[in-house]
Amino acid sequence: MTSPAVPLSLLLLFAILSNTFADPDPLQDTCVADLSSGVTINGFVCKPSNNVSANDFFFDGLKNPGLINNSLGSLVTAANVLKIPGLNTLGVSLARVDYAPGGVNPPHTHPRATEIVFVLEGELEVGFITTANILITRTIMVGEVFTFPKGLVHFQINNGVGNASVLAAFNSQLPGTQAIALALFAASPPVPDNVLAKAFQIGTMEVDNIKSGLAPKK
Ligand code: GLV
Ligand code: MN
Repeated sequence: MTSPAVPLSLLLLFAILSNTFADPDPLQDTCVADLSSGVTINGFVCKPSNNVSANDFFFDGLKNPGLINNSLGSLVTAANVLKIPGLNTLGVSLARVDYAPGGVNPPHTHPRATEIVFVLEGELEVGFITTANILITRTIMVGEVFTFPKGLVHFQINNGVGNASVLAAFNSQLPGTQAIALALFAASPPVPDNVLAKAFQIGTMEVDNIKSGLAPKK
């Protein structure tokens, strides 16, 4: 017969593991990031507490729509630990995304966070793709909320006639963003053409066409 101590310790292990799925918990009240330190750790080293001020926890960069001047027609303005050093070790961050009519925030993932968005303006077609390649999609309007589970590929598109914007929250101080098209077709050094040709079942000329379309414009 199994001793009751075994399932209990397993439960404890699961409880501990389930706590490691977002950023780790802080070990002190604050650890304002010293972004200029050359010391590399998991996160950022803390600056001396006598140098900490309210401004380390403050950011006003999400107040207004960002200027959209790219071919995608969308702009992400992050409010993460790189902008708000006081977020270091706290496991949360925000972003604002603005979309011109027809603008798309192209398929991407956040390796370190689940994302939840609140629509500030307009309406958006949003979706994520499960690991079984099922697309979960719907339209969201002003005041509505949608969730993109951690690590899953997701996108938003503004099919409306006016501008749209969302406030996005993440359970990481620095969720990381990997845009699928850029990761595959604009990596440096490049992913070999024959890898991409085989993966997408296309010719290497088509691969080069896609690569040149994504290359930074001079
Ligand atoms: C939206 O998906 C964002 O990552 O800001
Ligand atoms: Mn996202």
